[in-house]
Amino acid sequence: MKYNRTDFPKDFLFGVATSAYQIEGHAQGGAGQTHWDTFARTPGNVVRNENGDLACDHLNRFPQDLDLVRDGGFDCYRFSTSWARVLPEGRGQVNEAGLDYYDRLADALLERGIRPCATLYHWELPSFLADLGGWRNRDIAGWFADFTEVIMGRIGDRMYSVAPINEPWCVSWLSHFEGHHAPGLRDIRATARAMHHVLLAHGSAIDAMRGLGMSNLGAVFNLEWAEPADDSPEARRAADLYDGIYNRFFLGGVFNKAYPDNVREGLEPYLPAGWQDDFDIIGTPVDWCGLNYYTRKLIAPSETTWPSLQEIAGPLPKTQMGWEIEPAALTRFLTRTKQDYTGDLPILVTENGMASPERQQDSDRIDYLNQHLSAVQDALAQGVPIKGYFIWSLLDNYEWALGYEKRFGLVDVDFQTMERTPKASYTAVQKALTGGTVSLPLAQPAGAMHDHWNLVADIGGTNTRLGVITNGELTDLHKYPTGKLPELLEAFHSLRDEIGTDPRAVVAAGAGPVRNGTIRLTNAQLDLSEDDIAQATGARHTFVINDFTAAAWSVAEISHDNVEVLQGAKHPPTGTRLVVGPGTGLGVGSLLYSNGRYHTVSGEGGHIGLSPRSQDEVEIFNAARLVAPECFFDDTLTLEAEMFLSGTGLPILYQAIELAGGRAKAEPRTARDILQDARDGTDAHAVKAAHMFTTHLGAVMGDLAIVMMPAGGVFLVGGVAEKNRWLFKDAFRDAFNAGGRFSELRRSMNLYVSEQDEFGIVGANNFCKNALRR
Ligand code: FCB
Repeated sequence: MKYNRTDFPKDFLFGVATSAYQIEGHAQGGAGQTHWDTFARTPGNVVRNENGDLACDHLNRFPQDLDLVRDGGFDCYRFSTSWARVLPEGRGQVNEAGLDYYDRLADALLERGIRPCATLYHWELPSFLADLGGWRNRDIAGWFADFTEVIMGRIGDRMYSVAPINEPWCVSWLSHFEGHHAPGLRDIRATARAMHHVLLAHGSAIDAMRGLGMSNLGAVFNLEWAEPADDSPEARRAADLYDGIYNRFFLGGVFNKAYPDNVREGLEPYLPAGWQDDFDIIGTPVDWCGLNYYTRKLIAPSETTWPSLQEIAGPLPKTQMGWEIEPAALTRFLTRTKQDYTGDLPILVTENGMASPERQQDSDRIDYLNQHLSAVQDALAQGVPIKGYFIWSLLDNYEWALGYEKRFGLVDVDFQTMERTPKASYTAVQKALTGGTVSLPLAQPAGAMHDHWNLVADIGGTNTRLGVITNGELTDLHKYPTGKLPELLEAFHSLRDEIGTDPRAVVAAGAGPVRNGTIRLTNAQLDLSEDDIAQATGARHTFVINDFTAAAWSVAEISHDNVEVLQGAKHPPTGTRLVVGPGTGLGVGSLLYSNGRYHTVSGEGGHIGLSPRSQDEVEIFNAARLVAPECFFDDTLTLEAEMFLSGTGLPILYQAIELAGGRAKAEPRTARDILQDARDGTDAHAVKAAHMFTTHLGAVMGDLAIVMMPAGGVFLVGGVAEKNRWLFKDAFRDAFNAGGRFSELRRSMNLYVSEQDEFGIVGANNFCKNALRR
């Protein structure tokens, strides 16, 4: 090589790059299907229909490959994580073997003294997410942030640096406009959306990693210099647009929070509504900027619709890819990036290299590297803060649509035997790099990362419980007096301070209607908004939900250990679930199941009509009219179910029974006393009240179940059921099943009593997990 390590500034990093799908062997180790697997299996997309099923079998051979990185004298190894290897369906269930693999890879790098430089996404999108629209769907930003947390939650502490997405232009334009890469679309609307969403996903992932305490986070762009094919203004305009689409759109979005005018003009009709409001996320500050550079293009106008330009074959020497070799453009890009976008921020060349058919004596590659290192030297001389240079690639590998024929490796791979043989370029680079070291750390600062946690709240009239959720589990529960709004917010704030970091999300459940992000807490008599909570805790995501919603979510993950089975299957099946919770009020919630996920709709639970179920009850209902006249439906004998079937309703029911029995209207008794007497059998009115309570509740639940047909079961939850399990025996079940011609159908339902403590907290937690998964 023309250069040695010592020709570069102190602590200048040399690295080598690869990506997951190109080397790992995607068909192995439990990875889910990706859009590259199916793109490659569709004739005409990839030469010889080659795919990444086995690739370089790096999954099994990585220790040996990392020895090559170490022995080559490299400071850094840039690799990517496969989303579908970690989350086969893109979200939800984790493939532990996949996580373990990246865990071992991280350790193996550190053991060899190599800095792990991760890229979270290098093009293999899980097919499940592709089915949902992939990069066209705005939700991908959230899916990607969740994936980021899963993978970095496991290996982030050992990463030197991380970039979310490799080459946004390839992910969007090349794959959705030109159709050359998966998903192989040729559609301008899909393209515009993908271009915007890929940046939104980038920002969301950076945000997620900051939330975990991570640093040294960057972005990696591929740049291609656009040279006008001639001196005409038309050619200059065409080249400028090519430059806008290819280079300035993505750099501009991330560093200047704006898209170039000439690109925006063409794409505006197709960008997602509200795109202008996303720049705070897209432009979330990063710590460095990575540039991948290979070639330049000659651009001329064309007669097509926008963007009305075409590439012209150029005169410069070309690589095996047919790409012109133009090192000077790398210097221009480095200086321009500093000047227009990144200022003093470190810049790294995160990919540079060439494909060559020469499998051993690749002097062409040595030349190419020398020329581009010269270009880097030129930019350094002009004061560009370049901090590193990475060669693409360590190994010959799966070069996407061009299959295994285009060889980019410093190390030759025989794809029959999987044998690795270093090429002349490897030895040359090794010679240039050995002997020197850099003093930079290998990974994130020790102790900087923390588990992210969520805060869940169950707000009652007098007391509020705040739960700490770590890795999805309740790890701590605190009780505070609810008080007025400032006291309540102070409780949130003090818990945040006690933990020492901002929660990622807060979910607060309480009794009362929710509108526009504010819950009117009827018992506590105050209004609590999601914004208040965000301010008090610093959380990125805040939600207020009512107690019906929380009750419904409390059974989302329920297992047979947490239920008493009154009838039906021992294990509650997955599916839509009906939840009834006689607490302070009669809560009725439904957990709807569709598309593999639970959802709730909010509603009011207590307003169901209740009518006498026997002759003697007619008198009791008549008497109730004296106690609670406002709760009757007109002048019928039908009253609001909540008036009898809840903690506050039971005393009213008891009073009505006393009145009907000829006793004067006495002071109301508490539900607790009434149920105690009923249990002891010491008060006939109490026994009657308890009986009516359970049989009416059973009948109501049976009716609701028939309406909803909840395949996932009917659940009784809540304080009354929790503390008075004895109430819900045969009479309750018989009432549930007494449904005239529908009795048999009712008997076929799965019916459970939930035995979970703290169901409000459990429900808020399940809600939270689901909301963050979006
Ligand atoms: C880059 C990609 C990489 C490889 C090289 C040749 O654009 O990041 O995966 O294909 O080109």
